[in-house]
Amino acid sequence: MSVKDELIKNKLPQHVAIIMDGNGRWAKKKGNSRMFGHKHGVKAVKRVIEAGAELELGYITVYAFSTENWNRPKLEVDALMALLVSTISAETETLVKNNVRLKVIGGVDNMPKKVQKKLQECIENTDHCTGLTLNLALNYSSRWEITEAVKSIAQSVKSNDLNVDEIDANLFSSRLTTGGIPDPELMIRTSGELRLSNFLMWQLAYAELYFCDVLWPDFTKENFYEALFDYQSRERRFGKTSEQL
Ligand code: FPP
Repeated sequence: MSVKDELIKNKLPQHVAIIMDGNGRWAKKKGNSRMFGHKHGVKAVKRVIEAGAELELGYITVYAFSTENWNRPKLEVDALMALLVSTISAETETLVKNNVRLKVIGGVDNMPKKVQKKLQECIENTDHCTGLTLNLALNYSSRWEITEAVKSIAQSVKSNDLNVDEIDANLFSSRLTTGGIPDPELMIRTSGELRLSNFLMWQLAYAELYFCDVLWPDFTKENFYEALFDYQSRERRFGKTSEQL
C-alpha cells in the first residue's frame, strides 16, 4: 500500500517548494562524478512533477541553481547549464502532455543565452497548460530578490507612482519574482541539511518545513507522498491558539 492512499485530497498544499540537495554526495558514494549525480537528480525532478500533476497540485518550485552556485568549478557550472538545455529540450513535449506549465524565477537575464532561449521556448510552448505549474528557481536567491523588490518599490515612490503609505506586505509580495503565485505551504529539503540557503525566505514565512535524509537522486514518489502526509498531520495556527482554529 502507498502513503498516497492515506492523503486527504482537499488538504493538500497548493504550492510545494523543494531544495533538491545531495546530488554530489550521492554520486561520490557511487564513486562517480558530480554530474552523474545531477543527471540522476533530473530523474527525481521528473518523478516529483509526475506525482504533483497526478495529485493536481498547483505549483512546485525547485531550487535548480542559486546565485551562489556560480562559485562552483567552471566545469560543473558549464555542465549544469548544458544539462538544463538538454533536459528542457527533451521534456517540453512531456510537460505539454501532462498539462504542466513552466515558469522561471530568478535573474534569468544573466544566464547563458542558450539557456535563456530554451527556457523562453518551453515557457511559450507550455503557456496554454492549465494543470501544475513547474517553477524553476534559476540564478535565484532571496536576498537578491528582496533587494530587487526594494529597488522597484523605491523607483515607484521616486516617480510618484506609489505613496509610502501604500507599502504593505501584499504590495511587497507582488514585487517579488513570485508575484501572483501563492506562498508555498510546504518546503522540502533533502539530504539531511537543515538550512534555507537563501531560498524563498519571504514566501516561506508560514510554510511547514520538512527535512529528510534521502539524497535527492534517490527521492521517490513515495518519499514525496510521505512529506505531504507529514504536512497534513501538522496544525497550522498562523499565530492563533489551537482552540481558536
Ligand atoms: C544540489 O546538490 C543540486 C544542485 C545545486 C543542482 C540541482 C540540479 C538538478 C537536479 C539538475 C537540473 C534540474 C532541472 C530542473 C532541469 P549538490 O550538488 O549541492 O549536492 P551535494 O550537497 O551533495 O554536493
